[in-house]
Amino acid sequence: MKKVPVAVMVSGGGTNLQAIIDAEKSGKIRSAEVVLVVSNRADAYALERARKAGIDTAVVEKKTCASQEEFEKKVRVLLDEKGVQLIVLAGFMSILSADFTSAYPDRILNVHPSLIPKFCGKGFYGLKVHEAVLAAGEKTTGATVHFVNEIPDGGAIIFQKEVPVCEGDTPEVLQHRVMEQAEWELLPAAVEKVSAEILKNQ
Ligand code: GAR
Repeated sequence: MKKVPVAVMVSGGGTNLQAIIDAEKSGKIRSAEVVLVVSNRADAYALERARKAGIDTAVVEKKTCASQEEFEKKVRVLLDEKGVQLIVLAGFMSILSADFTSAYPDRILNVHPSLIPKFCGKGFYGLKVHEAVLAAGEKTTGATVHFVNEIPDGGAIIFQKEVPVCEGDTPEVLQHRVMEQAEWELLPAAVEKVSAEILKNQ
């Protein structure tokens, strides 16, 4: 069966990448194949996860590029080489320019660890999101998978799931609950949904 070639962009631990790899193995993802993992950090553990799964990896660090434009050009060359049709931002901690996002309309997904429109946009990433949720005294939080456009965390929402905030939560404990109960389920499901639609319309 034909599959959509997917690139996953990462910066850190890569548990969301792992959820996608596992979903591919178990058959929950049938319409997509991860063909490339691109990291903007050479020390990202996500790269190790990709290598263990036999997926090609690439590192493009901003410090080796003269500008955002050059960084994105290098990434686009890699994506083109692999014929990538869908890009998944899975813990990718860098904002892509409108030039980049407009080149892939409805072809970039992102997972964000809050219930967008709450706690999102510039400055809200990783643990900072959960710190802000706790500081605001929220009783529930969650995760969102959405399309990426030129507005950070502003594209159309694909899936969203609520997760409770519990008494005594630290940002780390809350982050793990949001990942386990929402992100690791929603992101592979969104990859399958969007990929199946791409195949249907081909
Ligand atoms: C995840 O919680 C993801 O939602 C968040 O960073 C973590 C990455 O974990 N992403 C953002 O905050 C993007 N704005 P992972 O590397 O283990 O997948």
